[in-house]
Amino acid sequence: MLTTSHQGRGVISRYRDFLLINERTPIVSLGEGDTPLLYSGRLSARVGRDCEVFIKNEGMNPTGSFKDRGMTVAVSKAIERKARALICASTGNTSASAAAYGARAGIPCVVILPAGKIARGKLLQAFAYGAKIVAIDGNFDDALRIVRELGEDDGFVIVNSINPDRIEGQKTAAFEIVDLLGDAPELHLLPLGNAGNLTAYWSGYREYHAKERSTKLPAMLGFQAEGAAPIFRNRVVEKPETIASAIRIGNPASWKQARAAIDESHGAVDIVSDREIIDAQKWLAQNEGIFVEPASAASIAGLFKCCDAKGAAYSFEKLPPGSRIVCTVTGHGLKDPDAIAIEDVDLAPVAANTNTVRRAMAL
Ligand code: F0G
Repeated sequence: MLTTSHQGRGVISRYRDFLLINERTPIVSLGEGDTPLLYSGRLSARVGRDCEVFIKNEGMNPTGSFKDRGMTVAVSKAIERKARALICASTGNTSASAAAYGARAGIPCVVILPAGKIARGKLLQAFAYGAKIVAIDGNFDDALRIVRELGEDDGFVIVNSINPDRIEGQKTAAFEIVDLLGDAPELHLLPLGNAGNLTAYWSGYREYHAKERSTKLPAMLGFQAEGAAPIFRNRVVEKPETIASAIRIGNPASWKQARAAIDESHGAVDIVSDREIIDAQKWLAQNEGIFVEPASAASIAGLFKCCDAKGAAYSFEKLPPGSRIVCTVTGHGLKDPDAIAIEDVDLAPVAANTNTVRRAMAL
């Protein structure tokens, strides 16, 4: 190794002492983690009272989503345990990540997906990385049930977030935030789907706090899509629907853990509509240059909702002035090209001469 820096070497290298890694664990990494934490002046102004808003852009991970943090640990531990193959259910990102880390490790990966409900880019990733793909006539909750039933037989290792190694890896995002800000933020906003990520962040914040790396703990705010909001409504949603296909989940696996994290942290769970999600996605792309997939925009839509106070489960009015707020955006916008409305973009070609082009620019 030419450098002693942890940069670009992945979350296990950087946070080894906080993970259940030993000398027999072969490290399977694609250089995940160390993602940008971007200050947003515009969002800070929107919140007001000298609060500072930061965006943790997890779309900058190797396969374009936060899943890579958990996958490096889950796949490394699977190889240590002499797994024969990986298996997962997915709304798309877990399968893309599992397929990539499986390829890197040199073991087969089987992904069970709800037919017709996976964003195009994510499906292409699973194909490109060479996963064995099985589409089912059912939703994510059905796929996860089947994966649980197939179980860890015949050397299969489940790499959904029901595998504690995934949560272990994902908690490193909270470590990075505290390491960079010098303390935990007052508030952390996240999209909520299968509820593993919020559980993981809370575990990371608590661990760092216990080890006196931070002086406080954030309130955790989770945002579900209006048509797929089992935790908010406190009941299973049989037929979840939302444009944010990544969080189209009616019966989250980490429901109890996420609920406990939200309650312990004095946070809240709330809902955002598909319209609010798409508006937030466009806002973030056009005002900050950060293009995220719809599910990711739920945290930004949630921030706007909290600013407007009325009807929000958590009002920013109770935030102390000067508070620091982190919004995680979870996946890259290019994964789901069909979700971005292009109907109002006129792509009819004009004549190939400078004057016509100058006129067409209308600037
Ligand atoms: N954002 C994106 C882009 C996701 O892909 C997911 C989950 C979430 C948010 C929600 O995170 O499940 O930990 O609460 N995607 C899973 C998948 C379910 O299969 O890729 P969570």
